[in-house]
Amino acid sequence: MKTAVVFYSLDGNCSLVAEEIKSHLKADLLRLRLTKEKKRGFVGSLFWGVGMVLFNKKPKLASYEFNASNYDLIILGAPVWADSPAPPINTFISQANITGKKIALFVCHAGGRGQSLEKFKTLLAGNEIIAEADYKDAVKNIEEAKQKIADFAKSLK
Ligand SMILES: Cc1cc2nc3c(=O)[nH]c(=O)nc-3n(C[C@H](O)[C@H](O)[C@H](O)COP(=O)(O)O)c2cc1C
Repeated sequence: MKTAVVFYSLDGNCSLVAEEIKSHLKADLLRLRLTKEKKRGFVGSLFWGVGMVLFNKKPKLASYEFNASNYDLIILGAPVWADSPAPPINTFISQANITGKKIALFVCHAGGRGQSLEKFKTLLAGNEIIAEADYKDAVKNIEEAKQKIADFAKSLK
C-alpha cells in the first residue's frame, strides 16, 4: 500500500508525529510550508493564526509536488488552531484534488482538540476516513506520543 503523510507544523509537534508515522509505514512525507514564513512570538503567532481561522483564510503554500492518484492511503496532519485544523492544511486540501481515497487524520494540540477532527473531516467529504488521532503536546510528552503513534500506525497497516 503506497502511503503519503502530508502535514503542516508551526512549532514541531506535528512534525515529530509525521516523522514517526513515516518511519513506521515507510511512507512518503510532505511538509507544507508557507510562501511567507515569519518569526513571531507566542502572542504574535496566536493573533496571526486565530485571525486566519476566524476569517477563513487560505494562506499561500510554497510550491510542492503531490499527486493524490499515486497513493492508496493519505495521512493528513495539522495543529489545532482555535478549535480547527490550522488553515495551511485547508489550502492544501483545496488544491490537491483528493477524492475517493482512504484517509487518516491527526491533529496536535495543547489540551483542547475541540471540534478540530470533525471540521477536518468535513473538508474531506467524498473520501473514506479510516482512522483519526490527536496528540497533546507531542514534543513534551514524547514517550507517550511515540507509543500512541506506533498504535496508530499499526492500525493502518
Ligand atoms: C494560532 C494558534 C492557535 C491555537 N489554538 C489552540 C486550540 O484551540 N486548542 C489547543 O489545545 N491548542 C491550541 N494551540 C496550540 C497548538 O495546537 C499546539 O501547540 C500544537 O501542538 C502545535 O503543533 P505544531 O507544533 O506542529 O505547530 C494553538 C496554537 C496556535 C499557534
